[in-house]
Amino acid sequence: MIKHELIEKNIGLMSLLIILVISGGGLAEIVPLFFQPSTTKPIEGLRTYTALELEGRDIYIREGCTVCHTQQIRPFRAETERYGHFSTANEHVWEHPHLWGSKRTGPDLARVGARYSDDWHRAHLYNPRDVVPESKMPSYPWLFENKLSGDDTARKFEVQRALGVPFTDEQIAGAQSAVRGKYEIDAVVAYLQSLGKLHTNYDKVR
Ligand code: HEC
Repeated sequence: MIKHELIEKNIGLMSLLIILVISGGGLAEIVPLFFQPSTTKPIEGLRTYTALELEGRDIYIREGCTVCHTQQIRPFRAETERYGHFSTANEHVWEHPHLWGSKRTGPDLARVGARYSDDWHRAHLYNPRDVVPESKMPSYPWLFENKLSGDDTARKFEVQRALGVPFTDEQIAGAQSAVRGKYEIDAVVAYLQSLGKLHTNYDKVR
């Protein structure tokens, strides 16, 4: 009783104890995640991005698609019925940076791959209202004009490899020629079609 009064009347001591309690709780919750295979090891059969997909991913980041689209399906029925199996950590271990996002103005895209044809995506990105009349999504016509040089693609692979993504020497050697001369739209569509399709073990994602 007296001890409690001591803490309540001493703001410095109380702050220190609060910090200790929160740090202890945080450590107990966060540290194990760095050692659990389910959060540190890639899901069985996970493949890395192709050069074109990786460039598409960078354009996705540049254009701010993440501002309106999450890539994180939560484990609720309303979500899994609409988007498919909920997202898990082991699907995302090679994502640098991850694009989970937090704001959904448009639908979640974590498993949008193969849901639409390439032509649908092209029409949609050129002018979303041509295929979804009520759409609020901006148009991206410049993706159809800008070409990729591929000058930095190999370097991007190398940086990703330094972060632990197992890109091969062959991928790095062929990176520039794989994307050079392609249009940005080709890269973005390749990336969108890969979402949720980098492995085929949806039933084992846990
Ligand atoms: C201002 C918010 C906004 C931004 C920025 C945005 N979108 Fe969208 N997006 C939407 C909305 C709203 C929809 C739903 C209507 C529609 O299909 O157009 C949508 C739908 C989509 C769909 C169809 C998803 C589905 O399951 O039907 C794809 C794919 C998509 N967006 C990709 C992109 C890409 C790629 C970018 C960046 C180049 C982007 N979006 C940027 C708002 C946005």
